[in-house]
Amino acid sequence: PPISPFAIQFDAEAATLTPEGPTLTRRMSALDGLFKDHDAWQQAVADGDPVVYSVQSTPVPEVDRELPQSITSIEAGTTAGEFWMTKGHQHPNHQGEIYLALHGTGGLLMFDGTETQWIDMVPGTIGYIPPGWAHRSVNVGADPYKFLAVYPGGAGHDYGWVLEHGMGKRAYAVTDGFELREF
Ligand code: 6PG
Ligand code: NI
Repeated sequence: PPISPFAIQFDAEAATLTPEGPTLTRRMSALDGLFKDHDAWQQAVADGDPVVYSVQSTPVPEVDRELPQSITSIEAGTTAGEFWMTKGHQHPNHQGEIYLALHGTGGLLMFDGTETQWIDMVPGTIGYIPPGWAHRSVNVGADPYKFLAVYPGGAGHDYGWVLEHGMGKRAYAVTDGFELREF
C-alpha cells in the first residue's frame, strides 16, 4: 500500500536524510568484474575488503509510483589507478533519475550502449540521467563524494547490463586530477 505523506529532514552539510530507511554497504568484494585490473581488485579484497560506498535511504519503498530518495557516500581511493566507484546499473524499464552532489568531487558516468557521457559533480550540481542511460558514480577526489538521488520506485537496478556492456570509459588518477580512458 502507498505510504502517508511525511517530512524528510535533509541536512546538505552532513549529507543525511531523517528518518532513515535501509542502509546498503558495498565492500570491494561486491565490485567483482568491474575494475579493469582484476588482480589488483582481488588483492584489495584480500587486504581487508574495504568499504567502497554506502547508500542511505529514506523509508519510501522501491515500488511503482513511489519516489524514493537516497544518499550515496563513496570513499576516496583507487585500485590500480582506477578511482573508486559504484557498481553502476541500468534501469530495466528505462526511467530517468536525478542526482544532486553534496560533498567532495565526483563524476556521473553514463553510457547508452554506444555513447559515453561524463558530468563533473561538485556540491550544487544536479546531474540528470535520461531514460535508457546506464549510470555509475565515481569519486575523483581525496574526500568522500556524496550525492542525493531521487528516482522512480519502480525503476529497478539491472547490474548485469553493466557487466555485459561496460560503461564505455573508466576514470583513472593522473597527477592533477583524473583522466577518462576507453580501456
Ligand atoms: C538508484 C540510484 C542510486 C544508486 C547508488 C548505488 O537507482 O537507486 O542510481 O541510489 O543505486 O548510488 O549505486 P549502484 O546501485 O550502482 O550500486
Ligand atoms: Ni539509478
